[in-house]
Amino acid sequence: MDRIVIQGGKALQGRIPISGAKNAALTLMPCALLTDEPLTLRNLPRLADVDSFGHLLNELGVATSVEGARKGEFGRVMTFRAANIASTVAPYDIVRKMRASILVLGPLLARAGEATVSLPGGCAIGNRPIDLHLKALQALGAEIELAAGYVKATAPPGGLTGGTISFPTVSVGATENALMTAVLAKGTTVIENAAREPEITDLAQCLIAMGAEIEGLRSDTLTVHGKDRLHGATYAVMPDRIETGSYACAAMLTGGSLELVGAREDSMHAILSGLADAGALIEFKPGAIKVTGDGAIKPLSISTAPFPAFPTDMQAQFMAMLSLARGTSLLTETIFENRYMHVPELSRMGADIEVRGRSAVVRGVEGLVGAPVMATDLRASMSLVLAGLAAKGETQVNRIYHLDRGYERLEEKLQAVGAEIERVGGD
Ligand code: EPU
Repeated sequence: MDRIVIQGGKALQGRIPISGAKNAALTLMPCALLTDEPLTLRNLPRLADVDSFGHLLNELGVATSVEGARKGEFGRVMTFRAANIASTVAPYDIVRKMRASILVLGPLLARAGEATVSLPGGCAIGNRPIDLHLKALQALGAEIELAAGYVKATAPPGGLTGGTISFPTVSVGATENALMTAVLAKGTTVIENAAREPEITDLAQCLIAMGAEIEGLRSDTLTVHGKDRLHGATYAVMPDRIETGSYACAAMLTGGSLELVGAREDSMHAILSGLADAGALIEFKPGAIKVTGDGAIKPLSISTAPFPAFPTDMQAQFMAMLSLARGTSLLTETIFENRYMHVPELSRMGADIEVRGRSAVVRGVEGLVGAPVMATDLRASMSLVLAGLAAKGETQVNRIYHLDRGYERLEEKLQAVGAEIERVGGD
């Protein structure tokens, strides 16, 4: 199995192009199911999850074609066309590899009147139920059956009708499924306590470009006036705020300076203010954010929560950064119950971290030392790469298929700014 080998301790300097956001791409792609016309997505990142989602759409009858990047843009341009829905079943073999497959449930139901999706089950970072997705569809009139590990949603004979969906807790995925279903339901749907993540706004803007009528963008109440049909569109995926934040941590950890080209400030206030509080010099340039660290990292107290608060997807990378802070930090994870799997691995590299229930006490140490490490999820793996960039000696990060799910051309981007990092084949 391939691994990433890093010789740490080099201050990173230069420019890193930021790719399209994985979590926006994974909710924009299923929009193709909502129309028989082509949906063209620009700035799609080259990631394993994007490929897997493309395969899932192919199974459902969506034709896909790929063009290279346009001049001045990174990533790919892909066109998706669901002239007909060939199947309404998302099979276990695909869903088990990628939880985001649940995002075909709403669009298939809305377009074809029925959808059968394998239950995703738990994953490394927690239990991750889908009850909120199902409640949203039921509020629009869908009947839900669970059998043999699959969920089947069926629209009533007269079709789905708008209604009020009031989420008891904030869910990104359930808000996405609710939006993608409501755009083709009859009448008006109000989604209360909707997630406000920038990826939700990206989804709403793409749906609007396809002819949907949605009010309340960026707020926690979205009002959707259903349409009989949507049409094709061309839409560019927003830049990845988590990739941006991850490389900003790399600048801090190595006492370097990185210009993150294409990063968008409005999607990442909590991340940038955390970095600034940790001592980063942050400069806003046209089309880029420059982050400079002077090697002295200040401790922080941070709690993860839904947007606009600090994102759970940055917790592991901040923990790597704070392991070298001058003082003690407190991180609290409120979204997922099992998102500290990087802690034992960071500890093996010399970090001093103690987990107390949902919180982690991080006592800053003088330095980290390279070690062979592995992680069981994407962001945890990135925190180990970051630690490796700052550590003395060699770090080997194993199970890098996690990184390939969410970081486009990771080694190439880091090599270009001076990191000694390479991917090597293993047994
Ligand atoms: N939840 C429920 N019931 C549901 C849905 C969610 O109890 O029906 C719970 C979850 O178990 C969790 C909380 O609600 O405790 C929030 O989960 P949410 O639904 O918001 O997460 P998600 O849609 O499954 C997306 C991202 C995650 C990111 C979270 C939170 C995608 C494809 N995934 O997941 O990204 O951590 O939102 O912001 O958009 C990652 O990129 O590494 C990643 C895990």
